[in-house]
Amino acid sequence: MKVTVVGAGAVGASCAEYIAIKDFASEVVLLDIKEGFAEGKAMDLMQTASLNGFDTKITGVTNDYSKTANSDICVITSGIPRKPGMTREELIGINAGIVKTVSSSLIENSPNTIIIVVSNPMDTMAYLVHKSTDLPKNRIIGMGGALDSARFKYRLAEALDAPISDVDGMVIGGHSDTGMIPLTRLATRNSVLASAFLSEDRLNQVLEDTKVGGATLTKLLGTSAWYAPGAAVSALVQAIACDQKKMFPCSVLLEGEYGMKDICIGVPVILGRNGIEKIVEIELNDAEKANMTESAEGVRNVNNLL
Ligand code: 2OP
Repeated sequence: MKVTVVGAGAVGASCAEYIAIKDFASEVVLLDIKEGFAEGKAMDLMQTASLNGFDTKITGVTNDYSKTANSDICVITSGIPRKPGMTREELIGINAGIVKTVSSSLIENSPNTIIIVVSNPMDTMAYLVHKSTDLPKNRIIGMGGALDSARFKYRLAEALDAPISDVDGMVIGGHSDTGMIPLTRLATRNSVLASAFLSEDRLNQVLEDTKVGGATLTKLLGTSAWYAPGAAVSALVQAIACDQKKMFPCSVLLEGEYGMKDICIGVPVILGRNGIEKIVEIELNDAEKANMTESAEGVRNVNNLL
């Protein structure tokens, strides 16, 4: 199993690190445009191998796509991250050009690859990969919902004063501060609805804190987060590589599901060796449907800037 990660910045390097630590891939290629940068990160990571007990071989390359040839999975993290006060949508001008070039170079060298898009504005970047390449829809996956759901579970556990392994919850919709839809109605602690333990106000606070999860970190760190994004990508890569058939919310091209067409937006999917094995249509209530429509409108407004 060969995985390429484009962009050796904080998200890309964390992603490579988590993939390696889980030791399911034979090879991870880290590619960056900055001379020597990916080589340095790869060497540093390889020097953790004997300490962390993994055999995955991590190689760093400067913009040499021939070294990514025959990758089973390629992750695109390249582009500029947001600064405090910026929305993910404001990155579109620069990142669209980068994502277009990177995806075509990857596919040229790995025609059978599955692509995971992380660059922001992520839903629009996933849509751009659909529009600018001829990869089938099961092989283009936008990473947002897995990360947003992890942040949702963190906030739920905090509110419930429970260990994170006790809680479950999912975030669908666009990967933006206004577009995310944390499904508080369905969140649980050990199969018991979270609403049995938390007041409506407290659950709403969890919802609001989840939606600005990325912005809160950007403000604290001065740039966007990397540990949870890297871990979320590695979970998707593992689900595909190990054919786990796990369910994650991911940004995927809808063709009638959830009453939508010609848009990439976060919905639950089953991930396995073919990438998106299935889009799962769950029953939403009227309020959630209205939120989904509004979220899609936001994503379409950004798509129109392409
Ligand atoms: C985030 O929410 C990078 O979009 C990513 O942190």
